[in-house]
Amino acid sequence: MSTIDIVIMAAGQGTRMKSQRPKVLHRLAGRPLLAYVLDGAAALGVRSVTIITGHGGAEVEAFCADWTRTGGATTPVQTVCQQPQLGTGHAVQQAAPLLPDDGVTLVLNGDVPLVRADTMRRLIDLCADRQIALLTVDTGEDAGAYGRIVRADDGERPVRAIVEARDATPAQRAITEWYSGVLAAPTRLLKKYLTLLTDDNAQREFYLTDVVRHAVAGGTLVQAMRIDDAVEVAGVNSPVQLAALEREVQRRHALRLMEGGVRLADPARFDLRGELDCGQDVEIDIGCVFEGRVSLGNGVRIGAHCVIVNARIEAKAVIHPFTHIDGGQNEVNVGAGALVGPFARLRPGARLGAEVHIGNFVEVKNSTLAAGAKANHLAYLGDATVGEHVNYGAGSITANYDGANKHRTVIEAGVHVGSNCVLVAPLTLGAGGTIGGGSTITRNTAAGALTVTRGRQISIANWRRPEKKKTGDPEV
Ligand code: UD1
Ligand code: MG
Repeated sequence: MSTIDIVIMAAGQGTRMKSQRPKVLHRLAGRPLLAYVLDGAAALGVRSVTIITGHGGAEVEAFCADWTRTGGATTPVQTVCQQPQLGTGHAVQQAAPLLPDDGVTLVLNGDVPLVRADTMRRLIDLCADRQIALLTVDTGEDAGAYGRIVRADDGERPVRAIVEARDATPAQRAITEWYSGVLAAPTRLLKKYLTLLTDDNAQREFYLTDVVRHAVAGGTLVQAMRIDDAVEVAGVNSPVQLAALEREVQRRHALRLMEGGVRLADPARFDLRGELDCGQDVEIDIGCVFEGRVSLGNGVRIGAHCVIVNARIEAKAVIHPFTHIDGGQNEVNVGAGALVGPFARLRPGARLGAEVHIGNFVEVKNSTLAAGAKANHLAYLGDATVGEHVNYGAGSITANYDGANKHRTVIEAGVHVGSNCVLVAPLTLGAGGTIGGGSTITRNTAAGALTVTRGRQISIANWRRPEKKKTGDPEV
């Protein structure tokens, strides 16, 4: 197989997105478009990857550097700045000096995210070191703003040209086969035809697609490899196209999960923006969003409208509706058989053991709760270590922050914290102790003791509340 060099065009302004953000950094299912293209390229095993940057270049370059650092890229990624951006042909011209003549260049559009590595490989094979190979699609429907594939009339119908929608005659506009933005060409030929481009067209740009016309005129055969799946080659040029592709990607995620046995209440109301790993008999209700890495053990049930980010949820745990779990850099762990929510919030470093209960309006951050511990209503646990079978009363909080530093609260096994307590850290509540409701605890408590810090209750008999004056009462 030939030596492959990849060029990814990512310099365009993305005018139709009407956004400050460079188009290739807009997110599809939680990841920048360019990340998909880079992943596809990396899967091929190539000699070099060159990314053309321009509009928002610094941001795109920072993303590429980050991707190389974290993405396990085996091929170095280099960037070339295209300034000003005079079209896709002009973009590839900028990369030409970096491309050795002996290889095949695969040109990818940074805004066409879903092309499969296998498809790219077949396209390179078709190019066979001597002809230009184009990836095209024909759905039999109007090709919108895409470039039309113009073929000769003879039986073989070889490709004669790609005509951009804005330059097409009415007859050409009616052509339903369109160019995906992906081509493979022997580098020496590509370079030769790139030098012939002009900006003599509706957009006054140097079109890469004009390489085809010049190649045909120069006696180089141009082959089209037509695929049926328009989603694989869909380009993202506008918010409408981005949202349509997002739905399609989500539909595919949902199908894959359901084929693996996951019961989604409605595949059309499901969003995965990362990786979701599910055991057997997992049920997910409508409107849930999963981000980062999430794993759900056997028999886990997720109620409606939960947002779950970077978390491991073990077997038979139940997450009730409207719960927000976000592990950030520090994965949240929910133990087997735990019950969480509705309306609960688990923040980074929350680690719940088996059968833990976290109820409505309870927030847990950087805290470990051992098996069977319960905090069922309106409470905060931050920087706490909670022992087995602790019962943490409604409205109680750990005061973990003194304005400068965070401190830990240790609540040993079997402690019962009454309602509305303030536990001022650093603090240890001894095993099996009881804290009376409404107490503010500032010192460690002994195991087994009852500790109460509120004022003693007094009653004044026959207390008469003040009364409002009636009109006509004498002024005093
Ligand atoms: C392009 C093709 C069109 C094809 C479609 C597929 C051309 C002239 N047209 O149209 O035939 O059907 O893709 O999606 O190639 N870019 C640069 N520098 C520039 C201009 C663009 O790097 O000066 C980059 C963009 O960032 C983008 C890619 O090239 O990633 C394609 O540019 P875009 O303007 O989206 O071209 P389309 O109109 O989609
Ligand atoms: Mg485009």
